[in-house]
Amino acid sequence: MTVAPWPIAELHVHIEGTLETELLVTLARRNNVPLPSYNPDELRELYRFTDLQSFLDIYYANLAVLRTEDDFYDLAMAYLVRAAGAGVRRAEIFFDPQTHLANGIPLSVVFGGLTRALRDARRDLGISADLILCFLRHLGGAAALETLDAAVPFLDQFIGVGLDSAEVGFPPSLFTEVFARAGALGLHRVAHAGEEGGPDYVQEALDLLGAERIDHGIRAIEDPRLVQVLRDRRIPLTVCPFSNVSLRATPTLAEHPLPALIEAGLLVTISSDDPAYFGGYVDDNLTGIEREFGLDPHQMATLARNSFLAAFVPEAEKRRYIAAVDEHLEGLLRLISGA
Ligand code: HPA
Ligand code: ZN
Repeated sequence: MTVAPWPIAELHVHIEGTLETELLVTLARRNNVPLPSYNPDELRELYRFTDLQSFLDIYYANLAVLRTEDDFYDLAMAYLVRAAGAGVRRAEIFFDPQTHLANGIPLSVVFGGLTRALRDARRDLGISADLILCFLRHLGGAAALETLDAAVPFLDQFIGVGLDSAEVGFPPSLFTEVFARAGALGLHRVAHAGEEGGPDYVQEALDLLGAERIDHGIRAIEDPRLVQVLRDRRIPLTVCPFSNVSLRATPTLAEHPLPALIEAGLLVTISSDDPAYFGGYVDDNLTGIEREFGLDPHQMATLARNSFLAAFVPEAEKRRYIAAVDEHLEGLLRLISGA
């Protein structure tokens, strides 16, 4: 029996991390960019990571294949089609402009392709999607400021800023100024924190960056006082279980702190992070944790509702999405009871 996936908002996905090896090969051939292999399965075999950096090295190298507006369009559209099939009704999608700028690609090309894909997906797939511009923390605060300045002409094409890449050694405090400027521009603010870095990075992201959501945030569980702050302020954590296992932030899925985070009353959402690299999209992550932790339909519905509560959309839109979750739950319960 196949059951439709839960209606969900995907709040933590890097568009560059959705580059499947098949498309990687297509784009490499299209743009004459060398790859270690032109066999998608062989390329996927290389995805054996020991930590965040070992992943980032391959991930950034692969992005050399993205050259034209159509390349960015094809990348985003492939994700959006797959996401629509995964039950995603709303996607808030990270992108890393500094990587593309370093490859000689102007921002107008990146925005041109991504924005056109998002617009077509809204029309043709009924999926609502927006972009969040991420700063690469390993390049530091001054480079982030330069990037934000360069993106100001495209302010109508992204809804917020984020912070990603190598975490340890690059604390949120380096980015105080750029996040303040983003806030003054009316942009939403999120940050990766507590993936490999400790709970102090999560606290800094809240206090110094004004982060409205924390991406990953799993190490927050190590600090009971921080957990209380996150609970009291209803700060969402966008948790990516398959990513955490792939990058060894947790030894196994069974040992993932997700149940403890839920038990602590935190507003947890589930996302895929970099699905082309970590073995699954958001629906796969959801079924993975459902099975691993024996979550019941009511607990799954809470995770789905949380995703919409944490989304950057108007209240009326949240209510419509949440009604769809409730309807899905009722259908599931009817199916289970055989009614
Ligand atoms: N962490 C930090 N940076 C990233 C990630 C991640 O999981 N994915 C893509 N960039
Ligand atoms: Zn991420």
